[in-house]
Amino acid sequence: MSIKENINPDKLPNHIAIIMDGNGRWAKGKGKFRIFGHQNGVAAVKEATEACAEIGVKYLTLYAFSTENWSRPPIEVRALMQLLVSTIKKETKVLMKNNIKLEAIGNISDLPKKCQEELASAILETKDNTRMTLILALSYSAKWDIINATKMIANEVKEGKIKIDQIDDKTIDEHLSTRKFPHPELMIRTSGEHRISNFLLWELAYSELYFIDKFWPDFNKEDIFEAILNFQQRERRFGKTSEQIKN
Ligand code: FPP
Repeated sequence: MSIKENINPDKLPNHIAIIMDGNGRWAKGKGKFRIFGHQNGVAAVKEATEACAEIGVKYLTLYAFSTENWSRPPIEVRALMQLLVSTIKKETKVLMKNNIKLEAIGNISDLPKKCQEELASAILETKDNTRMTLILALSYSAKWDIINATKMIANEVKEGKIKIDQIDDKTIDEHLSTRKFPHPELMIRTSGEHRISNFLLWELAYSELYFIDKFWPDFNKEDIFEAILNFQQRERRFGKTSEQIKN
């Protein structure tokens, strides 16, 4: 029986988030420039997206560029932005064919104009697709998002729209850039690093974390299926006891 056949379709994570890590090390191991790793990472993006759509996951968030990534050498940042533009341009028809909707979170206004335009056009074109939503985190960091949400809430308090005592979990959820999406149940990070790196800090509060040693360009469908199978074997207690969950 293949890994995929062992997956219980009734217990799928609704939303998977991925920290795609290890492109640079993968390229270095092959004696190539870091950008070669990013270029080869695109195939893994396609593998992950197809695997999730195929099995019935409804949301997939990919950490494609963090706020902190702006401090990388300008040549790498430029190459990554170009790669993003060319990939979005090329893959929009594949998203359409597969009924996948594209969304983005992060400080999109920080991205180069061309990148913003390409992204906006793909988001618009795919907006009515219903099979799965692919969310790209671009110029994103969870702290940036939480600070923004805090400012918005503070303003609403100042304007008398809400009272301080009314602020709860839901208020924060509704002011984050992820407000349209459910929280991820499963977060995967490649490359053997065991960190969250400023990714979805609020939304991952009760997510299952899954770490794999492979570098991102080597990641494939089977790895997603294996992560889902591992997820299905875990007991999610949300702070309760095992007995409470079973009853
Ligand atoms: C992390 O590896 C990867 C990134 C910062 C960029 C990810 C981008 C892609 C896979 C390409 C295009 C993406 C889309 C969505 C079209 P790293 O550079 O941090 O590797 P290292 O840890 O080995 O240095």
